[in-house]
Amino acid sequence: MEREQLDNKEQTIKDFGEQWLRYDDTEGYFGSLELFSDILLPFIKPDEIKGCSVAEIGSGSGRIVNMLLEAGAKHVIAVEPSEAIEVLNRNIRNPEKVTCLKIAGEQLPAYGNLDYIFSIGVLHHIPDPVPVVEAAFKALRPGGHFLIWLYGKEGNGLYLAFIIPLRVLTKRLPHFILAFLVEILYWPLILYIKFCHRLPLPLRGYMRSVLEKMSPKKRRLIIYDQLNPSYAKYYTRFEAKKLLSDGKFVNIRIHHRHGYSWTVIGTKPS
Ligand SMILES: C[S@@+](CC[C@H](N)C(=O)[O-])C[C@H]1O[C@@H](n2cnc3c(N)ncnc32)[C@H](O)[C@@H]1O
Repeated sequence: MEREQLDNKEQTIKDFGEQWLRYDDTEGYFGSLELFSDILLPFIKPDEIKGCSVAEIGSGSGRIVNMLLEAGAKHVIAVEPSEAIEVLNRNIRNPEKVTCLKIAGEQLPAYGNLDYIFSIGVLHHIPDPVPVVEAAFKALRPGGHFLIWLYGKEGNGLYLAFIIPLRVLTKRLPHFILAFLVEILYWPLILYIKFCHRLPLPLRGYMRSVLEKMSPKKRRLIIYDQLNPSYAKYYTRFEAKKLLSDGKFVNIRIHHRHGYSWTVIGTKPS
């Protein structure tokens, strides 16, 4: 991997470690099965996870791991390379059903027997995600599924015109200045959500179906999460599908979730 990619990769992991140590709870809609269903739709119903052996790559503070447990997963492998592993261990509801690994995604052991692997909001923060997709392929059983959720390019035009230049600055800011900026941006966001009730504004679906249901604390976390990580990529439909097809997955399906992001699922051939 090139030096710049390596620096970006390590810095992003460090950024998230610090983020989750500060924003360390998973309360409310942010950590709910209702939100999990919204992410998985239209490909998997949480019921289908019951009794399955699964992994999550990039577990952060553990909300998806707890959602998988609530859906009835038999066992969850939780992969988190950052210092957030401490928060993850603390937040897990049924530790006897979870194995936490402090490793990067590409180091996921080649179990070869997992039914599902999930990676929600992670691959777009990895400069070279191909080795992670390859590791997921090896860890699944034949016929097992890999579901990823990624930031999208299409449907995000106005937002990207705002956030990309802003991130040049914000990803370098120390926590206390960034937290102050989040506070400043929070109030226009609330106003924007209110306008979305009356007007067909960009990102209306996401504002009303997801962000509005979050607590004020979690809305602030989401703004912080957009501005903080060193590396973030916004995927086109073509790039999102290619990620899994290059990784030898078949039967790849893609969904433009709330018109701004991609949920993609692929199957390891039997
Ligand atoms: C936006 S957070 C998503 C956390 C969790 N999936 C969720 O939805 O709440 C991205 C996570 O990916 C982790 N991550 C970053 N680089 C990674 C890598 N190379 N391999 C595995 N995880 C990584 C970060 O440490 C961070 O916790």
